[in-house]
Amino acid sequence: MPSEERLRRLVERIEARDGLHLWRAPGRVNLIGEHIDYLGGRVLPFACDREVLLAAVPHPGEVVLSSLEEPEPAVVPLDEEPELAGWTRYVGGVVSALREAGLGVRGVRGALSSSIPVGAGLSSSAALEAAVALAVTDARPVPPEVLREAEYRATGVPCGVMDQAAVLGGRAGHALLLDCRTGEVEALRLPESLGFVVVDTGTRRRLTDGRYAERQREVVRAFEAAQRRTGAERLDDLRPSGADEVEEPGRRRLRHAITEQGRVDEAVRALRAGDLEALGALLDASHASLRDDFEVSSEPLDDAVDAVRSIDGCLGARLVGAGFAGCVVAAVRAEATEGVAAEASRLIEGRLPGVRSFPVQAVDGAGPAEDVRGGTGPRRGP
Ligand code: GLA
Repeated sequence: MPSEERLRRLVERIEARDGLHLWRAPGRVNLIGEHIDYLGGRVLPFACDREVLLAAVPHPGEVVLSSLEEPEPAVVPLDEEPELAGWTRYVGGVVSALREAGLGVRGVRGALSSSIPVGAGLSSSAALEAAVALAVTDARPVPPEVLREAEYRATGVPCGVMDQAAVLGGRAGHALLLDCRTGEVEALRLPESLGFVVVDTGTRRRLTDGRYAERQREVVRAFEAAQRRTGAERLDDLRPSGADEVEEPGRRRLRHAITEQGRVDEAVRALRAGDLEALGALLDASHASLRDDFEVSSEPLDDAVDAVRSIDGCLGARLVGAGFAGCVVAAVRAEATEGVAAEASRLIEGRLPGVRSFPVQAVDGAGPAEDVRGGTGPRRGP
């Protein structure tokens, strides 16, 4: 359903006009740099044109949000520590993290809807949290770290800051080179000849199932051991052989992290030089490393990667986000985007009935919904 139509339904649902605001928060696609944000690495995500839309009016004392995709509303009173259950936990996590950070929270009543597949590697929860944060702060700037804390409170998952930084700071037509150690961000223009297709395998992971935290523990321990031995500060200070003396499985986990950091830097060079073939090959290599060394792929993800790569116009592909299930991102020649998306679904649907493929583009980060797509998008309500 187009954004305008979804917004219209949201406004209808809350039946109020006074003080009405419309907010939008995008999902994110990580081009490359997976599982290194929490090691202080450099990563290359972009905000994508799948989004959470939220319409809200002021409502003293509590945050009450209904969702077009959830049967029950989320109700979070502002005068007590929120209960963190069901999808309310994301709303409660935001309220609680904002409050802890000393950022004032106002009560709102609203409705929201998301077009981001949930638990599929496209940051559906970071987008939801960003939309809620916009509504309850009336768009005061919220640091990505505060939203990361909200995610942690909501899910207990010790994620890095990449998703929140991309969702908040995305820029249309650009990927963000994000230094997760310093917080510095550089927007890199994406060549017009480059397009992206997401293949959603329809398989779902629950970040809370502990495997993300387990991988993170293994690689953090391995990194710290290598740091102690070599005096290295950053992943860049280590060569892949720097992992050799670490015990398995830490050795493989760290080898992934070190080589992935190298691939991010090469991808930046490839983007600057407009070398699409090189970029595609780096995506392929990233997938192999996530599959073999970091061990966060799955049969459906490998299958989707193989299928999409076999299509003319596809430059390279890899699993996106935490892994285990969810989506694959493919870099494609711009003119082949629609064709690759259609063909990818056709090739895989026999084996994966839930598969969906769609083109994605880089859009601006979270903000008022009237800013969507330079004025052709949704407008503020009457
Ligand atoms: C999830 C986390 C991010 C990042 C990715 C893997 O999306 O939220 O912080 O660690 O996994 O790169």
